[in-house]
Amino acid sequence: MATADTATLLPSRQAQTHGLNQRHRFHGKTSPLMALPPPPLSQAITLPADWCAAGLEAPQRQHLPELIQLRRHIHRHPELSGQEQRTAALVAGELRRWGWRVREGVGRTGVLAELGPSQGPLVAARVDMDALPIEERTGLDYASREQGLMHACGHDVHTVVGLGTAALLGPLAPRLRGRVRLLFQPAEETAEGAAWMRAAGAMDGVEALFGVHVFPSLAVGSIGLRSGSLTAAAGELEIEVLGESGHGARPHQSTDAIWIAARVVSGLQEAISRRLDPLHPVVVSFGRIEGGKAFNVIADHVRLLGTVRCLDLELHARLPGWIEDTVHALCRGHGGEARVRYRCIAPPVHNDPELTNLVAEAAADLLGHSQVVWLEQPSLGAEDFATLQHGVRGTMFRLGVAGAAGCTPLHSNSFSPDEGCLEVGVRVLSLSLLRWLGGLA
Ligand code: NI
Repeated sequence: MATADTATLLPSRQAQTHGLNQRHRFHGKTSPLMALPPPPLSQAITLPADWCAAGLEAPQRQHLPELIQLRRHIHRHPELSGQEQRTAALVAGELRRWGWRVREGVGRTGVLAELGPSQGPLVAARVDMDALPIEERTGLDYASREQGLMHACGHDVHTVVGLGTAALLGPLAPRLRGRVRLLFQPAEETAEGAAWMRAAGAMDGVEALFGVHVFPSLAVGSIGLRSGSLTAAAGELEIEVLGESGHGARPHQSTDAIWIAARVVSGLQEAISRRLDPLHPVVVSFGRIEGGKAFNVIADHVRLLGTVRCLDLELHARLPGWIEDTVHALCRGHGGEARVRYRCIAPPVHNDPELTNLVAEAAADLLGHSQVVWLEQPSLGAEDFATLQHGVRGTMFRLGVAGAAGCTPLHSNSFSPDEGCLEVGVRVLSLSLLRWLGGLA
């Protein structure tokens, strides 16, 4: 673990914003993450029997400075999908500090932690840990120190929301009415990590699953919810168009793969609009096209790479076959052939209405009804949270991160969420987990 440069961890404006004081500023040479002792149990969270909103509020404020430091440390040292070794080691250490039973290497770099009795009802929450191959341009003093890598999708926030939840619930272990499991997932950006963790047994026995993702179009202090479809099913489409090469002057003596590929690109859009139900949107976008050798040579091979999105699970199951048939028909109709490969990246996230209402009530009690925003539209983005949901009821909420000046979009090189979201995320997630278990004993 790299030693954090701690002198600039908490600029005064941030310190004021988050109610920090000098006691929490570190100037030593050791990592603040390792230097912080766990708070004694006497100072830890004690919630009233009905763990009302006020009961959660006070103790969480104790942990907030630590959470901000953790988030900035993780933000400085982003790691690509499947390579989250340092982040995973940091996560595992923090979880053990809060008394969780920890398993590392669950789905490559995944970390699984459990709290509560060894048996009983089991509720889980999943957060992701990976960063993106983006050069950061935020200008923040805790900007990425890894060239070409950036936490531009807020997974550093998610990781710390998970750790904050662990800190908040840890001291409550003896009073839990069932088990809480936290999944720290690798490789969400490549839509591989959920499958890795699932194959390693991370979802075994789980009865309900909660998830969270930052949302730049919502103000910090609020959360967004939606019952039913939240994100789209996503696939990766590769089409090879096969023709016959020849002289550019005599196209009738060859089969022009570039012309046929152009017909495939436009013909697929037309077929979608004429052959599929417009009430169930489907998006096909090609992001890469390659083929041909010279200006006067008819190409015999073109490769198209694209992505497919739709919201309907049943339609998503039929789409690969439908696309393949349509592409073959288009190519053969112009004398060529095609090879079509479709890889499902993620099924749609479907939010269970009952669990979504549970989060809504918890958030309303903690933040006020006006801070709970019901989202009208699902997103055509993809999220492999859906892979974990297979056969298990689950819901994912959106965490508002826009400060007074707004927030740039996810995956932009200037993405900078307002850190006030950490407290909101931890409180809403923790109370949702506790309420699913039926409160404290
Ligand atoms: Ni993301």
